[in-house]
Amino acid sequence: MQRRSLGSSGATISALGLGCMGMSEFYGASDDAQSLEILARAVDLGIDFLDTADTYGLGHNERLIGDFLRRGGPVLRQKLVIATKFGIVRQAGKYERRIDNSPEYIRSACEASLQRLGVDTIDLYYCHRRNPDTPIEETTGAMAELVAAGKVRQIGFSEISADTLRRACAVHPVAAVQSEYSLWSREPEQGMLQTCAELGTTFVAYSPLGRAFLTGTVHTEALADGDFRKNNPRFAGEAEAINRRLVDELGRFAAARNLTNAQVALAWLLDKHDNVVPIPGTRRMAYLEQNAAAADHRLSAAEIDELDRLFDPALVAGARYPAAGMVGIE
Ligand SMILES: NC(=O)c1ccc[n+]([C@@H]2O[C@H](COP(=O)([O-])OP(=O)(O)OC[C@H]3O[C@@H](n4cnc5c(N)ncnc54)[C@H](OP(=O)(O)O)[C@@H]3O)[C@@H](O)[C@H]2O)c1
Repeated sequence: MQRRSLGSSGATISALGLGCMGMSEFYGASDDAQSLEILARAVDLGIDFLDTADTYGLGHNERLIGDFLRRGGPVLRQKLVIATKFGIVRQAGKYERRIDNSPEYIRSACEASLQRLGVDTIDLYYCHRRNPDTPIEETTGAMAELVAAGKVRQIGFSEISADTLRRACAVHPVAAVQSEYSLWSREPEQGMLQTCAELGTTFVAYSPLGRAFLTGTVHTEALADGDFRKNNPRFAGEAEAINRRLVDELGRFAAARNLTNAQVALAWLLDKHDNVVPIPGTRRMAYLEQNAAAADHRLSAAEIDELDRLFDPALVAGARYPAAGMVGIE
């Protein structure tokens, strides 16, 4: 597996990480024993960057990673870069959230994450969403104190603007920005990717497979009740039909190269930029292995251009989140 820098401190991570969210919530039922097997196989495949958050399954996801780390002992712990996040406050069974970026909250959230993960230090600690009531300098300052105290190694932000990133970097180096980026979600191309490259900040692309829509394997009517995607505007009604036509084209592009849609979607991200690290999520061994293999595939500049045009943002229908999910997105 090729490797990429994490920030500008000299640390490196696998070019593909593993998104662990679906192992606890949002995409239907999951099974802890199976998730532990997926995590172990990911490490075998050279993936050493695991993405979680305190809000995924309201602590379940961090406890799962903690269980995995305990089973593997210090040798495994040392191999891995564990990223987690604070800031989204939800009640059990509710998608609606409030955002807390206050220094007191950050300190207590960090202690809780350290405990659930069973580690002394969080390798990468993100602010999951911004609450503009707390100045970014204050939030970053509180995160920098956690670094000084040895509780956190590097810091990051999710879904912030390029201007906010610059202000945060003036307080403390920001190793990573994590935001949605994929063939059908191209907002980071409007300045954020360039700003990250300039500031030495790694861009971590979440939902790189469009929450599975881009893979062509998911149809909205077949999703289980409670699956978050049922309420996602891009998966609904007329938007689904419009977006499905784009995915069918992607399917033809992939088949002509003996690749899967997922592999093309990941190779497009990796080959277009050298400071982007996609973190696809999966609960299935076959998907994990297929995705890992995508890191070895090279797309030409002409192929990247063709995909850019195929998924011109003007052709994609529907917002990427329902209204409740837009809270805290800059
Ligand atoms: N910062 C944020 O606000 C934020 C928001 C969302 C996500 N994230 C992070 O980003 C990670 C990835 O995003 P995501 O899980 O939302 O979306 P994603 O990676 O775009 O898609 C995950 C979905 O794709 C399916 N899948 C994976 N590989 C596949 C393949 N080769 N063929 C067909 N289907 C495949 C998975 O199915 P199975 O699960 O059934 O295998 C799952 O349903 C999350 O796990 C989380 O860590 C962060």
